[in-house]
Amino acid sequence: MKKLWGGRFQGKNEQWIDAFGASIAFDQELAPYDIQGSLAHVSMLGKCGIISKEDMDTITSGLKRIQDKLANGELTFTIENEDIHLNIETFLHEEIGPVAGKLHTARSRNDQVATDMHLYLKDMVQQLIQKIRHLRTVLVTKAEQHVETVMPGYTHLQHAQPISFAHHLMAYYQMLTRDEERLSESLKRIDLSPLGCAALAGTTFPIDRKYTAELLGFGGIYENSLDGVSDRDFILEFLSDSAILMMHLSRFCEEIILWCSHEYQFVELSDTFSTGSSIMPQKKNPDMAELVRGKTGRVFGQLTGLLTVLKGLPLAYNKDLQEDKEGMFDTVYTLSTSLDIMSGMIDTMTVKTDTMAQSTEKDFSNATELADYLSAKGIPFRQAHEIVGKLVLSCIQRGIYLQDVALDEYQDISPLIEEDIYDALDSYTAMNRRNSLGGTGTEQVRAAIAKAKADLS
Ligand code: ARG
Repeated sequence: MKKLWGGRFQGKNEQWIDAFGASIAFDQELAPYDIQGSLAHVSMLGKCGIISKEDMDTITSGLKRIQDKLANGELTFTIENEDIHLNIETFLHEEIGPVAGKLHTARSRNDQVATDMHLYLKDMVQQLIQKIRHLRTVLVTKAEQHVETVMPGYTHLQHAQPISFAHHLMAYYQMLTRDEERLSESLKRIDLSPLGCAALAGTTFPIDRKYTAELLGFGGIYENSLDGVSDRDFILEFLSDSAILMMHLSRFCEEIILWCSHEYQFVELSDTFSTGSSIMPQKKNPDMAELVRGKTGRVFGQLTGLLTVLKGLPLAYNKDLQEDKEGMFDTVYTLSTSLDIMSGMIDTMTVKTDTMAQSTEKDFSNATELADYLSAKGIPFRQAHEIVGKLVLSCIQRGIYLQDVALDEYQDISPLIEEDIYDALDSYTAMNRRNSLGGTGTEQVRAAIAKAKADLS
């Protein structure tokens, strides 16, 4: 089969070599954007008098028929036509004959593919932002139900101080807020048109780049034609933002997986988001959380992959750039499904408030309370810390907790200690008294939730 670029070639094509060079297996995802880009380009060619109005109309109606066929699943792409651009141009030739050859005036596949990628990613990032927003809403709704739910807060995975479960959820809300912000801010750089940069150097034809950018809904254009065709920073930025987002989801999943274990029993996932074992009848596994955690790996990989593709590339276009696509598509798909799973999983999970609370009663997570109590009475904090540390050691040796120590013994330690020490040692009180700005006290958490709700509305 003769190639659209075959003029200077005499040797025969080898099917297996064509297959190696082809991207149609994956870049067909760009088909609607490729047609959209061509429609804008041909309008501009007509408007600027580069082709006749009549040719413009013929090409436009041909492209629209291809658009319909695409929507109805009537197009069959071929490897011989290499990529989405040449496939669609071939369809156009079949639709309208030789005038189809005028579409590619003042254009190269280099600016064409970059335009497609910008259009695609802009669309996808806007959809992903909505999904992050939904997850943030789910988190706030769940948090609202658990402001008073006490759980152990951890450092080093050791019980540290009692916190509100809502406060824990709202920490993830904050991370996701930054993720959404990062993606929104990146739109500014995705929303640029490379169309008209042509192969690398611009074109001799009197094109109007601002006009095509406007028709395509872009906020601006690439100012340098070499940069326009070879820049993939916008994809790298998307992959970086995605890697950070997935890292957040993965940390959350890790916690959910721990919380589902027999050792914690802090939450139970709904059956819909759990799976069983083919051999052990009792099992209820948090597979979906594990998969989100696992899929984080491929997103990190896609980022590293593209950075590596780009690091040694001379300007301008090189075929290496065709390797920018699968990682981007895969990341869009991975993020989209992972965000849906997280929203559903968190929305439907049961929080075992009793187990969480009990777990703060048989531990020393109230030791800071005792030290704070003493230092509030004038004992320097370092000295109070030492006193409580010794008492904790003695409690461990006796198999009791701070709340089990008798008032006499407390008063032997310091006459400043009074009956109200037992209230101070209560885990709910300990949580609730941390009322410093951004702390876990219910007043602070309620304020954080109110602010989140206002931000989301
Ligand atoms: N399929 C190619 C890609 O994805 C399109 C651009 C081809 N340009 C070229 N000069 N071979 O990068």
